[in-house]
Amino acid sequence: MSELESEAMEAEFGTVAGWTEEAVRALGAGHAIPAGCRGSGSEGALRWLADRLALTAGSRVLDDGAGVGGPAGWLAADRGVRPVCAEPMHAAARAAHRLFGLPSVAALAQRLPFGDGAFDAAWCLGVLCTTSDKAGALAELRRVLPDGGRLGLLVFVADRPLPPPLPEGNDFPSEAELRRLLAAAGLRLRETATADLRDSPPEWDARADAVDAEVARRHRDDPRWREAQEQAGRVARLLSGGALRPWLGVAEAG
Ligand SMILES: C[S@@+](CC[C@H](N)C(=O)[O-])C[C@H]1O[C@@H](n2cnc3c(N)ncnc32)[C@H](O)[C@@H]1O
Repeated sequence: MSELESEAMEAEFGTVAGWTEEAVRALGAGHAIPAGCRGSGSEGALRWLADRLALTAGSRVLDDGAGVGGPAGWLAADRGVRPVCAEPMHAAARAAHRLFGLPSVAALAQRLPFGDGAFDAAWCLGVLCTTSDKAGALAELRRVLPDGGRLGLLVFVADRPLPPPLPEGNDFPSEAELRRLLAAAGLRLRETATADLRDSPPEWDARADAVDAEVARRHRDDPRWREAQEQAGRVARLLSGGALRPWLGVAEAG
């Protein structure tokens, strides 16, 4: 693996993704969606975005940077669409296909293997803060949407310098920078909100925790598990301290 911008992120989004699939298989399919939402983390945030994507049963939807496919699986179950998952980490892309039966391709957001206007809507959750080439990712999202196509975003934004220790490889934009980048890519921002990452139903959190515990039981002696824990812990600390803000936005192409 050498696609992401740090080894720590490859451990977190690649190796742990494969371990997550393994743990979901051990615990049962009911665990797949909560455990598979790595980054979006809250059903309320998914619902807020899905309500604003102008989806119909036949909508062609892209989940860009889909991880192990939890959000796409949720969207399929809740809205009756069949999202296409694109995700650079092979283990995660495979998990999205195997856990949710969704079409899934290993691809970077900056090089999407789809034609112009191939989708009616897209979302990209917790991804723009993991890549420095945000303009490249947004240009590709704009390209695969037709004029009027909707884009949902979850981005962890930082409006002032962050207190260390910082998660490795992340690149958190400010809201002002994000707005500039969206406008430059030809994506008109329609609505924004701040996500409440704690508003999932209690059984959702319990199942995600059970999968985390199963992954720990199997892999806690592996240095990559400790590295991924450290990464996730640093992001959680910045979020709980208010230095990072979970920003939701819906934009329209054109
Ligand atoms: C915080 S996780 C979010 C995963 C998923 N969207 C979710 O909400 O559960 C960030 C994801 O972005 C992916 N990623 C990192 N850099 C990327 C890039 N340049 N293009 C596409 N995806 C990328 C990672 O592999 C990881 O799966």
